Formats: sequence, structure tokens, C-alpha cells
Amino acid sequence: MGFSNFLKLSENPEVYPPQEDTLFLTDILEREFQKEVLANSNSFLVCEVGVGTGFISIVLGKKYPQIHFIGVDISSQATKICYKNMSEWLQRTQFDVLCMDLLCGFNPSRFFPSIVFFNPPYLRTTQEEMMKEPLPRTWAGGPTGIMVIQEFLKTLTKIRFGKAYFLSSIYNTNELFSVQFQEFYIQVIAEKKIEDDKLICYEVQYKRKPK
Ligand SMILES: C[S@@+](CC[C@H](N)C(=O)[O-])C[C@H]1O[C@@H](n2cnc3c(N)ncnc32)[C@H](O)[C@@H]1O
Repeated sequence: MGFSNFLKLSENPEVYPPQEDTLFLTDILEREFQKEVLANSNSFLVCEVGVGTGFISIVLGKKYPQIHFIGVDISSQATKICYKNMSEWLQRTQFDVLCMDLLCGFNPSRFFPSIVFFNPPYLRTTQEEMMKEPLPRTWAGGPTGIMVIQEFLKTLTKIRFGKAYFLSSIYNTNELFSVQFQEFYIQVIAEKKIEDDKLICYEVQYKRKPK
């Protein structure tokens, strides 16, 4: 794909390259960050789950050097490439990269991100495809398309955060989110038609801030 050309990012055949969904989420977050930066003049912490090559966090990090980014990915290849890319484009003090399953390794009493976001595996696939390393795992969301998203939302319930954003597809059984995660307001904030699919961006906030 050519999206990395203007950022000159390193890629790897085992790592999801920036695509239309990556750009869609980047555009939305650029808008949302502007609001957040206006509201919080101080620096704050952002966590990108499934960081891949690091494209989204790098675009945002270049624009907002006062924000600290933590990029997490379950793929060690992705975290290696992401570390290399972030080192080229961001100040070393501005980011950390961790190889981890979702947010599972964070200590909830010490980790308070203002923003968490995830361009997850959301395509409807077989269960077996979800287990296939390395590339199918980057897009395979299982038979409902939302299996990784549901796990992500479960881990979000364990931490205190300001806002979270994630993508899903119109073909997925998205109405499950609000039923299963009643502690959150989960609302659609943007949609985009891409080839035969329609991508949806959700915003997540606690109904009542956890203590
Ligand atoms: C659709 S790709 C998005 C990559 C990049 N953020 C982008 O937008 O181009 C999904 C990413 O999530 C990662 N991923 C999948 N399951 C994960 C999990 N359980 N924990 C952390 N990362 C995961 C994959 O390795 C992959 O890099």
C-alpha cells in the first residue's frame, strides 16, 4: 500500500500496513484530539491498542508533541516495526511500545489514559482464521466480526479512561455492545463506505466515572 509513502514508514509482510480504515480513524482522531487538547491544555496520555506500524499514533504525535503515546500490539513483529517507526518520527520521550494482549498488562491503579483507541480486527471470519498467524489475526474478528472488540471492551471496563474509540463494520452485530456493556455510553460518531463495506467509528465513555 502507498499510505506509508508520505511518512516513509518501515513495513513488514507480517504487519498490517496502513489502509483505508487506518486513514478513516486517523481523520476522526485528528478532529477529536483538537477538542481534547483545547479542553486540557496540559499533556495527557493516549494508548493505541493494535498499533501495527504506528501510523495513526505517529500522525497524531507529530501534531501534538505534548501528548505521550503508548502503542500496544499482540504481534511482536508489529511492536518491533512500530518502535523503529516511532523512533524515526517522534521524540524518544514521547512514546512507549509494548507487546501485549489488549490492555491486560496494565495496572488499573496506575494507568489512567485520557484516550484509548483501536482499529481492531473486525472482518467476519471463521474461528480458525482468528488463530492464524501472522496476518489473518490482524483482520479476523470471528463469526460475529466483533469477538476481539468485545474482549477489548471487557478490558476497558477494568480501567479508568476519558474516551475510547474503535472501528467496526456495518455487517457486524454491533447492537450487542450497548447491551453487554451497560456501564458505557457507546455511540456512533462517524461512518464511511469502503468498497462493499461500511465502517463505523464508535466513541465510548463511562456513564458514571468509576471511583
Ligand atoms: C486492523 S490492524 C490495525 C493496525 C494499525 N493500527 C492501523 O490502523 O493500520 C489490527 C492490529 O491489532 C493487533 N491485534 C489483534 N489482536 C490484538 C490483541 N488481542 N491485542 C493487541 N493487539 C491486537 C494486530 O496485530 C494488528 O496490528
